[in-house]
Amino acid sequence: MELGLKNKTVLVSGSSKGIGFAIAESLLQEGARVQISGRNEGVLRDSLKILSERYSPLSIDSFCGDLNQPEIVNRAIYQLVDLFDGIDCVIANIGSGAGPSGWALSAGDWRSIVDVNLVGSMVLATSAIPHLKGRDNPSITFISSIAGVEAIAAPIPYSAAKAGLQQAAKNLARQLGPEGIRVNTVAPGNVLVPGGGWEAKMSEKPDQVKKYIKKEVPLGRFADPVEIANAAVFLASSKARFISGALLCVDGAQTH
Ligand SMILES: NC(=O)c1ccc[n+]([C@@H]2O[C@H](COP(=O)([O-])OP(=O)(O)OC[C@H]3O[C@@H](n4cnc5c(N)ncnc54)[C@H](OP(=O)(O)O)[C@@H]3O)[C@@H](O)[C@H]2O)c1
Repeated sequence: MELGLKNKTVLVSGSSKGIGFAIAESLLQEGARVQISGRNEGVLRDSLKILSERYSPLSIDSFCGDLNQPEIVNRAIYQLVDLFDGIDCVIANIGSGAGPSGWALSAGDWRSIVDVNLVGSMVLATSAIPHLKGRDNPSITFISSIAGVEAIAAPIPYSAAKAGLQQAAKNLARQLGPEGIRVNTVAPGNVLVPGGGWEAKMSEKPDQVKKYIKKEVPLGRFADPVEIANAAVFLASSKARFISGALLCVDGAQTH
């Protein structure tokens, strides 16, 4: 299927590893030009090397820095705009389900988790809007979580921040529709990411984790990061030209 992503320029925030890396690689497979990013210089360098061996290095930009800082976000955007003459699509992927469980949380706990999972993504997306205007089929896709859809075993501020992100995306889709900019959200279920939280839990308590997955996920397994990437790539593609304001759960039917 021709997805119309050839030579499109895509900023994928938080893409030196995990789901973001899989999204960046899937976009490169479709002929897009991609900016990958992360805070850890060594990890970013290794990822750039891997991708540059598999795809044209001329299609890959890399940015090292904390994309939860507004001024650094602007530097990443301008670096990409200068290199490829604009941006067609933003995939706001940064987020983390790490955090204290239970309800006895401090204001600081709430602020830091909401900052990482809601504020950072919105600042990135809205900073890029002036560059998306006037492009062919421009779009923004947020990577949320099913924790923002239903009450599952996740830190409460994470669930609340992701639910907020989904509502913000829906509102943004309505406000940006007249400009032709589409806004969508992907909500992954349990994703087995190398070096990620589920991998750690699997090595600590494999039987418990396997039992949980079998019980909670009708398809009976973890998602592979590429399966989340497929959804994000489709939403960025020309095949999704009339899809905006959508929330796509990629969770093996876990949510009811
Ligand atoms: N894994 C799951 O099961 C799962 C399930 C549902 C939803 N999600 C969502 O999917 C998204 C990706 O999760 P993941 O599991 O793939 O995460 P991950 O493996 O921890 O990877 C996160 C990526 O983002 C980068 N990053 C994090 N904070 C950053 C910052 N402030 N500035 C720049 N780069 C930053 C990381 O690099 P550095 O650390 O070097 O900065 C890394 O490249 C998140 O929004 C998460 O909430 C994940």
